[in-house]
Amino acid sequence: MRILKVLGISAGFMLAGPFVNQNVMAQDGEALYKANCASCHKTTSKRLVGPGLEGINEKRSEEWLINWIKDPMKMVNAGDKEAVAIFEEYNQIPMTAFGFLSDAEIKAILSVIPGKAGAESGAEGAVAAVEEPEVPIEYTEEDALAGRLLFEGKKKFVKGGPSCLSCHHVSFDDIISGGLLAKDLTNVHGRLGDAGVSSIVSAPPFPAMADAYKNKTLTDDEVFQLTAFLKTVNENSGTQADTSQLGMFQMIGGGFIGLLLWLLIIYATYNNRKKESVKEDIFKRQLKGNDSVNS
Ligand code: HEC
Ligand code: HEC
Repeated sequence: MRILKVLGISAGFMLAGPFVNQNVMAQDGEALYKANCASCHKTTSKRLVGPGLEGINEKRSEEWLINWIKDPMKMVNAGDKEAVAIFEEYNQIPMTAFGFLSDAEIKAILSVIPGKAGAESGAEGAVAAVEEPEVPIEYTEEDALAGRLLFEGKKKFVKGGPSCLSCHHVSFDDIISGGLLAKDLTNVHGRLGDAGVSSIVSAPPFPAMADAYKNKTLTDDEVFQLTAFLKTVNENSGTQADTSQLGMFQMIGGGFIGLLLWLLIIYATYNNRKKESVKEDIFKRQLKGNDSVNS
């Protein structure tokens, strides 16, 4: 980690050269913002996964923001009033901790967030351009079906990458139970909406998921179809039996039965080998030979 950070910093210096001025910092901030924050936050006042960050620099002190971004839960646990309030409001999803960002990097990020109500600075706020259409997105059944196949891994992602099912469970139709590594996604669309789901899927802010799709970013179509599928899953969730518990038993059962099977197979092949090994044959023949000589 430390080495990576040192490399990153030296690379930063190499790029920036000795003239580290406000402009360069702002550009870094834009890139850092896009890589780390944009999948959950808009720079307008609109809510995505987390609150819209417009005007945040006026609302909170720089010190508060730096502490928060480095370790949100630490502030919540320490009982900081504002931190607790904002956490309560968005309690379903805790924000990622960014302990690996330096103070300077965080300041660079904060510098690209425009002030309240798109005032003067808002117009040139570089990141503010990430806008989504206001009209509700229409998905066809084909989109949802294609998304389902992708989710289950029955259709491969264009750039490879594991199926969602290997980490996530959804209670839908006869889909087999998914991985338990990550959250159940049955109702995620109801909570995060089109914008939240698609931004998380296209640029996952969660290290485990981001790693899985590193250099294997999903195409826009794939993101669209997966979002359509998760929307359908959420809309039908009332009528679906919760299979996640069952899945747990299946996994335990499967594991146990699997183990028994393996033991049987090993036992069988071991026995076979012993019974029909070449050596034994020769040995038997030799014994016979000996017998005939002896008798
Ligand atoms: C996984 C999604 C996610 C990511 C990634 C994320 N945030 Fe957050 N953020 C949240 C949520 C959700 C909240 C609301 C508080 C809570 O539930 O913890 C929040 C709250 C905040 C707040 C407090 C807002 C207020 O009104 O006080 C700030 C500031 C903030 N985030 C900045 C950032 C910055 C800067 C980044 C990138 C370095 C970032 N966040 C990345 C989800 C995220
Ligand atoms: C390597 C494991 C892994 C894979 C594969 C994976 N994810 Fe995730 N995903 C995670 C983790 C970890 C989280 C963070 C939340 C948690 O801890 O469950 C997450 C979070 C999410 C969230 C936000 C959940 C919430 O409630 O806020 C969505 C949406 C999501 N993933 C969708 C997908 C989709 C769609 C796919 C397939 C393209 C996928 N994931 C593949 C590990 C994975």
